[in-house]
Amino acid sequence: MSVSGTVSEYQRVVSGMRPTGPLHLGHYHGVIKNWLKLQYEYECFFFVADWHALTTHYENPEAIEENVWETFIDWLACGINPGACKLFIQSRVPEHAELHLLLSMMTPLGWLERVPTYKDQQEKLKEKDLATYGFLGYPLLQSADILAYKAGFVPVGEDQVSHLELTREVARRFNHLYGKEQDFEEKVQAAVTKMGKKNASIYLDSLKQYQETGNTEALERGQALISSQGNLSLSDRERLYGYLEGRSKIILPEPHPILSANAKLAGLDGQKMSKSYNNTIALREEPESIEKKIRIMPTDPARVRRTDKGNPEKCPVWSLHKVYSSQETQQWVMQGCTTAGIGCLECKKSVSDAIIESLKPIQERALEYQSNMRLVKEIVREGCEAARDVAEETLEEVREVMGLVHRDK
Ligand code: TRP
Ligand code: SF4
Repeated sequence: MSVSGTVSEYQRVVSGMRPTGPLHLGHYHGVIKNWLKLQYEYECFFFVADWHALTTHYENPEAIEENVWETFIDWLACGINPGACKLFIQSRVPEHAELHLLLSMMTPLGWLERVPTYKDQQEKLKEKDLATYGFLGYPLLQSADILAYKAGFVPVGEDQVSHLELTREVARRFNHLYGKEQDFEEKVQAAVTKMGKKNASIYLDSLKQYQETGNTEALERGQALISSQGNLSLSDRERLYGYLEGRSKIILPEPHPILSANAKLAGLDGQKMSKSYNNTIALREEPESIEKKIRIMPTDPARVRRTDKGNPEKCPVWSLHKVYSSQETQQWVMQGCTTAGIGCLECKKSVSDAIIESLKPIQERALEYQSNMRLVKEIVREGCEAARDVAEETLEEVREVMGLVHRDK
């Protein structure tokens, strides 16, 4: 894959979730399923964004603490594997705040004012006073969350794409302003030496060929060589790429969004499933409650009586079948609904059984974690430490290029 100043060499994934309450099926299909896959493909950092929660809940922070732990229990219960990824709390890694502050120095106000979620959310959450400094900075804090780990990929929903776009712009501006590393050439030389004689000479050959003739095969050969150098640090590899491509250092790489491939799960009323619409099924909801919520769901309005024929495409229950039922059952619904061969109650019972069944293992695991909070806290403590190590490394570079390393000896 060609690199050209972007980030395919950055194999880290970062994503965060605000601790706003129990996770529901919408989170599961929209976010968690994605994470479950990514955790085995990349080095993943998943965190609970408690500072982001404060930007909108600063007047009543009581629930945040509890929700933080509940969120971790939900993640773990879904199969997020702490052996495969780091789970941590944003506010326990103060480097996020430091980077946010430093980025704020060079981020034009207009960039933040133009992020569409800024006005949209103010509109939507009218009852809250969101004309705050913190709320305006929301997407920049998110940029810091991502850039602190030099993440290459960020799994997010559609609504977050503008925040990723801002992050990319900020990274570009940062690299433009500060990307001239001191002693760059010396550091490149040192990194070349670390590769060993044979690889060093392949690297230098590719470099020469590419720079003299623009031969992209030579470029790719050089890039492949660098990416195979597992013993070199990320910074060293970055320097070698930069040098090969004839540019100065990329300190903060531009991340790419990974959009969820799954269609949005509809809520109980047919709108998008979301807590603010009060149309959710929580992952840890009691079977009786799930059964009841589905039983009273609206259906195709044409089916007033049992003998009326219906059309599943006009019924929110159908969208649950599409996710939870086998092909066979779906055919049974399609056929039975359009011919009035089945009643809505049987149709609903079938899907609520399927949902309850699929949540069983999650709920069982959640109970285990709930009764072993010490384990949960230990997992998170380790995650915080590991995250800090990485973020601190980035911050050291950032402080250095921004003139903030004041040695007193
Ligand atoms: N703003 C994100 C949301 O509401 C949460 C978030 C905060 C996030 N920081 C992040 C997501 C960094 C991805 C990466 O969903
Ligand atoms: Fe909806 Fe099923 Fe009733 Fe058809 S039979 S209207 S799909 S609940």
